[in-house]
Amino acid sequence: MTRIAVLVSGGGTNLQALIDSERAGKIPHGSIELVIASNEKAYALTRAENAGIAHAAIRRKDYADQDSYDAALVEALHVHDIDMVILAGFLSILGPRFIQSYPDRILNIHPSLIPSFCGKGFYGLKVHEAALAKGVKVTGATVHLVNEIPDGGRILLQKAVEVQDGDTPEILQRRVMEQAEWILLPKAAEMLAEKLEEEKQA
Ligand code: GRF
Repeated sequence: MTRIAVLVSGGGTNLQALIDSERAGKIPHGSIELVIASNEKAYALTRAENAGIAHAAIRRKDYADQDSYDAALVEALHVHDIDMVILAGFLSILGPRFIQSYPDRILNIHPSLIPSFCGKGFYGLKVHEAALAKGVKVTGATVHLVNEIPDGGRILLQKAVEVQDGDTPEILQRRVMEQAEWILLPKAAEMLAEKLEEEKQA
């Protein structure tokens, strides 16, 4: 069984989609074992509590520099014997020490069709504001592997979502979550969990 940690910062709807999918038997090769939030107020922590999943808040501001923050995160993952990491709306920067500890084992969900509306400064509602400002007719979500380049790792899954007349950033965000993010992330989690399980047994 591939042991999964989910890193969060906000409401945790993507985390909830993962929890619900696991319960529904849609992630047979993975088990969500740990949730780490970048701030103690993240409602995602309440979702983890309700699901009986180990959870903690590890805040960037409690650490002198990026490397010691990365080290604290990696330590928590090792304590829980984690095999793969899912970033679900995690807003803190992850440095090379973190990323190199889990090569090709970190997934991220981004709320646009990369390479559009991604990279530094594109997160949360800002992504949808940019899509509406550009006047695209189609947007969507992308799941990709994480490397040192923000939103730069290999793309695993994408799903298109229609932009409708009168969309506000909030309405569009919700549609992209419902029609793309909450479908893609559990699917990608199972794909990577199965691949890592096979590698373990090889
Ligand atoms: C959403 O905007 C999602 O597109 C992005 O970060 C936010 C996370 O939302 N990945 P939630 O915390 O999963 O509800």
